[in-house]
Amino acid sequence: MNLFSPITLRNLTLKNRIALSPMQQYSAKNGIPNNWHLVHLGSRAVGGAGLILTECTAVAPEGLATLYDLGIWNDEQQNAWKNIVNFVHEQDAKIGIQLWHSGGKGSLKHPNERMKPLSVEEGGWIVKSSSATDFHGVIAEEFTIAEIQKLKTNFVKAALRAVEAGFDTIELHAGHGYLFHQFYSAVINKRTDEYGGSFDNRIRFLVETIQEIRKVIPEEMPLLARISAVDYIETEDAWTLENSIELSKVLKENGVDFITASGGGFTNVSKDKVFPGYQVPFAAAIKEQTGILTGAVGMITEAGQANTIIENGQADLVVIAREQLRDPYFAIHSAKELGWETDIPWQYKRAF
Ligand SMILES: Cc1cc2nc3c(=O)[nH]c(=O)nc-3n(C[C@H](O)[C@H](O)[C@H](O)COP(=O)(O)O)c2cc1C
Repeated sequence: MNLFSPITLRNLTLKNRIALSPMQQYSAKNGIPNNWHLVHLGSRAVGGAGLILTECTAVAPEGLATLYDLGIWNDEQQNAWKNIVNFVHEQDAKIGIQLWHSGGKGSLKHPNERMKPLSVEEGGWIVKSSSATDFHGVIAEEFTIAEIQKLKTNFVKAALRAVEAGFDTIELHAGHGYLFHQFYSAVINKRTDEYGGSFDNRIRFLVETIQEIRKVIPEEMPLLARISAVDYIETEDAWTLENSIELSKVLKENGVDFITASGGGFTNVSKDKVFPGYQVPFAAAIKEQTGILTGAVGMITEAGQANTIIENGQADLVVIAREQLRDPYFAIHSAKELGWETDIPWQYKRAF
């Protein structure tokens, strides 16, 4: 097995083990994907990645982080995705949508305005989370039980729209300090009802959402999840790798096929914790202890490094973000470097 061995999840076969990691582009209006997203995602499909994952895509307007993020809660957004999905398919790549809700990490300005809080007067909204928490100098309100039920419905509706738009798979963004993570990590979740307190209670919202989604999407469609394997916080209530292993077991039992092990989201990760392949051990531990397929993400930048992760069985996919911004042809270049055959778009054959 190597970087260019195909892999099958349910009935979805990827031609290689390289995925484009979700990356917010802050380039949308009204949540609608446009030419930028077509070129951004399409270029990496042309460049040979087997799986293209969209940036985090909100299931409701209050699930956005900024007004420039993508959404899939209405017909216009759903329809605009189709062209991108078709183009990726024409390149013999597969495409998954990352469904997301920002929870308390919403109502922010554009990164060019340093992501400062966006007030209601400026077009922002009141942010809510598992518990009343100060996220960006603004206290998020606590979601009521009725609102939690509504959130699940938002995810189910968005999943149905994703299937309609032709996506091959759906990834739930359950990491990076966003909504699901705000529930499963006790750092944020201080609730005393059935959605807070014990481990089982804190993972309940994510597990119930998965159960509801699994009921409505096709049986043969794989369901993926990205989690924060650790909080990178040294307090007693912080989420740990052991917690992630337990969570992964439950997700697997409930029909999740694949987990990308990322990390953090509530605080800046200290520099000494970030080095090439720094989160690979998380993917390896989750894979080994639960048997679920995993994706390794974080400072994977070289063909040999990526191939070793797959050959050693530490993960089933390498999920690569910034290196594919630097080099949209990372997959083709990797095949060349490692001496393997790979498909090159016929239009570009004279160059490679
Ligand atoms: C510009 C940018 C936007 C990102 N947006 C998302 C996102 O929408 N969803 C997500 O799960 N991770 C997002 N991430 C995190 C990446 O997917 C990835 O986990 C992280 O950059 C580490 O991988 P890398 O070292 O290969 O870049 C983003 C990263 C960058 C650089």
